[in-house]
Amino acid sequence: MTNFGSFMNDDLELLLTQNEDNIRSLVVNLILNTTIKDDIFKYNLDKNIIFLNNGAFGLALLSIIKLSNKLMRYIEKNPLKYFDRELLPSIAYSTIKIAKYINSDIKNTILIPNSTYGINSVLNNYVFENNDTIIYFDYLYGSTKKNIEYIKQQNIKKQITINIVTIPVIFTNDKYGKIKKKNILSSLKNIICSNKNIKMIILEHISSILGITFPIKKIIKICKQHNILTLIDGAHVLGNIKLDIINIDPDIYITNTHKWFGNIKSCSILFVNDKYKNKFNSCIVSHGFYNGWASQYTWCGSNNYISYLTIPKLIHIWETYGFDNVIDKRNNLANLFLKTIKSKWNTKLIAKRKLFNNLYTIYLPDEINNKFLNNYSELQKIYINHNIEIPVKKINNRLCIRLSVNIYNTIDDINKLLEISNNLLHIRI
Ligand SMILES: Cc1ncc(COP(=O)(O)O)c(C=O)c1O
Repeated sequence: MTNFGSFMNDDLELLLTQNEDNIRSLVVNLILNTTIKDDIFKYNLDKNIIFLNNGAFGLALLSIIKLSNKLMRYIEKNPLKYFDRELLPSIAYSTIKIAKYINSDIKNTILIPNSTYGINSVLNNYVFENNDTIIYFDYLYGSTKKNIEYIKQQNIKKQITINIVTIPVIFTNDKYGKIKKKNILSSLKNIICSNKNIKMIILEHISSILGITFPIKKIIKICKQHNILTLIDGAHVLGNIKLDIINIDPDIYITNTHKWFGNIKSCSILFVNDKYKNKFNSCIVSHGFYNGWASQYTWCGSNNYISYLTIPKLIHIWETYGFDNVIDKRNNLANLFLKTIKSKWNTKLIAKRKLFNNLYTIYLPDEINNKFLNNYSELQKIYINHNIEIPVKKINNRLCIRLSVNIYNTIDDINKLLEISNNLLHIRI
């Protein structure tokens, strides 16, 4: 027993060292019931919506929503039994399962409420030294940029200067300029050569704005050679491409479970390697603090932890359906969709097809670009008013759409997108 508040539990750190079969008897029984009916890969999507933006907030699987509803009712039958005796072993069980699933070390892996929480924990609590430099590629996710600016300001108060250097994303010089892998790597190398004291790189494995998948293994290898901490934001990765933490070997990796993995919201995964494990604390100080690394992160007060408990069922679903089957289905759909769009618009992706995984950023044709370039929130509103969820972005000084492809999409979605886009040209703005 531990002094983890007044909890009647074994120490979480100890639970995490157990064989998963040993703690099964301690977990909430409902989560062990993995019976899967024919709704295995069904979603709860509104049928009137053309949903081409899985990338923004993901979409939960129907069976996971059902399980979470059951858990909600179960908890409120006797919250004491749940929070006091069953929750920590259940979280430990989920952590062990997911660590194995992403080929990560259990002792370096924990569940956290979301990716923002993970990035904040690292940046806000890491101890920077005077003149340390942080680098990141242009088009970084907006809230992470704000977080970097915040820690810069906080450090100024402590008389510590942090330099922030943006690595340019280079587009080829033609009309529909392309991002190339070799230019990504040469940009990075140039920045490393021309800046001193680079302490940390913050890198999205799959870029939220650009949609491209960065050559993460190569980037991590280069950064490690220069002793640069690699903080990888893999928010778009789990359930999108195969995640193998040991293989890519990051210092810190964060991914969430709700975008492409089909979980309900509020569960992300944080991996920190041994070198950095005790270099920063969690955002929250609660009962788990001073009880070990996993405990301090895991307990965030009386929170809703249901999304942590759905993990074993999700893994079971993905294993039953087959990860590669899902990937194949999505790829086949994407090929069809891209071909259809190209035949109507004659535009291009912002990078080669093989740099994309389920998030495709496509230049809009001249007519639409010229009409809405200086007012693209109008274009966004028009899509929303026609029940089409697809983000419009300004990239390389042209308008683009970022198309998410998931297995619930059909060619009708693309035809509708093209039809509405075509009609746009007649709308006066
Ligand atoms: C690249 C990236 N990082 C972080 C986040 C934030 O994720 P969360 O809402 O889980 O904190 C997002 C969300 O879209 C994202 O795209």
